[in-house]
Amino acid sequence: MNEKFTKIGFILAVAGSAVGLGNAWKFPTLVGQNGGSAFILLYLLLTFCVSFVIFLAEIVIGRLSESDAVNAFYKLAPKHKKAWSTAGFFMISALLIYSFYSVVMGWILKYTAVSLFSLPTNIDKSGEIFTSLLENDILVSLICFTIASLICFYIVSKGVKNGIERLNVWMMPALFILLIIMVIYSMFYDGFLQSAKFLLIPDFSVLNKDSVLSALGLAFFTLSLGVTTIITYAASLPERTNILTSSLSIVFINVLIGIMMGLIVFTFIFEFGADPGEQGPGLIFVSLTVLFSKLGFVGNVLAFAFFLSLLFAAITSAISMIEPSVYYLVNSQRFSRKRAAELLFGVTYVLGIFCILGYYKETSGIFTFGGKSFFDILDYLTSNVLMPISGIVTSIFVGFVISSKPVKILLLPYMGETLFKIWYFLLRFIAPLAVLVIFITQNI
Ligand code: TRP
Repeated sequence: MNEKFTKIGFILAVAGSAVGLGNAWKFPTLVGQNGGSAFILLYLLLTFCVSFVIFLAEIVIGRLSESDAVNAFYKLAPKHKKAWSTAGFFMISALLIYSFYSVVMGWILKYTAVSLFSLPTNIDKSGEIFTSLLENDILVSLICFTIASLICFYIVSKGVKNGIERLNVWMMPALFILLIIMVIYSMFYDGFLQSAKFLLIPDFSVLNKDSVLSALGLAFFTLSLGVTTIITYAASLPERTNILTSSLSIVFINVLIGIMMGLIVFTFIFEFGADPGEQGPGLIFVSLTVLFSKLGFVGNVLAFAFFLSLLFAAITSAISMIEPSVYYLVNSQRFSRKRAAELLFGVTYVLGIFCILGYYKETSGIFTFGGKSFFDILDYLTSNVLMPISGIVTSIFVGFVISSKPVKILLLPYMGETLFKIWYFLLRFIAPLAVLVIFITQNI
């Protein structure tokens, strides 16, 4: 018998998985570059027509099988069971994502610790500090990465209820409260109004083909799809949970936190005249720290709160990348949870170190392939190749391979006939095609 989440534990754990670094540096920038709320509307539309559709399909697989991903495909496939069960091994993508995600968590940990004491006062200095962390201070990188990774594996080794649920149930509200305080604080700055305009006033004229592709990619990434995380968490979904409303609240929390992060980040970007087009590490680690430094001690407190909330968001996502494989080893290979966690810690630790060495100036040559660092290769391989393929496989599996009867019995009480029909149609014909289109356009 599986260990089950409580209802709220399930929602918070899945929301914790969805809300991550993507919300902090992908969402705000893409929204900013693509016409504010016009992009948010597009993103919501694609979320509902594509990602949410596949999200529900993953929930169905987990809930019907109550098993780890490999076993789930095996159990549910009517024939060619062995062949289908290999689809469960997309869980490895989650480990690959974890390997570089945990390196970023190390950076965040370092910034959380340091931000209370000192912040760089100009952009050049700040850029130097960040580059130096990557290229020279290998020891600091390693120590922070090791601590971050140990925390995540420790939590997962404690199990679904005592580890994952317990952590999410306090960390997600804590993250939310920190963000609310920061949003309220931002309102006192002139930049806030500009930030709100930038994010929320729709400008449809900026939308183009690339916006559609970015929105679809983002919708896929932020819902943690295509790596069997949702299948695994849904295997511990408590009976009689309303699948539709819980899933909708998860999508809602995810978008809301993206918008809050965006409001905070852009308030300070506009307040101090920095570049709103910047994305990723440059935005968070370089620009934002300088902007906070202009506020004196308050800035230190804000920076600390900001990095702490980022750390929380990252940890709750990171543990959901480890759990699918841990659960597989425990459920299908008879490992103890502790042994499984230790083994996977070892594997991802080595990959993480390769990422770190790919940035370190003495070794970067060895860990760079075809002009791409090891870190970038893992990122590219997972986001652009493995996740889309898995999305297509999942929709075909639930849409065409397994019988529709148990799926209908599971979902009908929450959705009603019409909504079910729409979902089933989107799952069979629209979602796989849409993902195929991103897959092809991203890789040519
Ligand atoms: N959703 C997370 C974020 O926005 C990142 C993520 C992508 C993820 N794929 C995942 C998390 C798979 C857990 C599992 O940052």
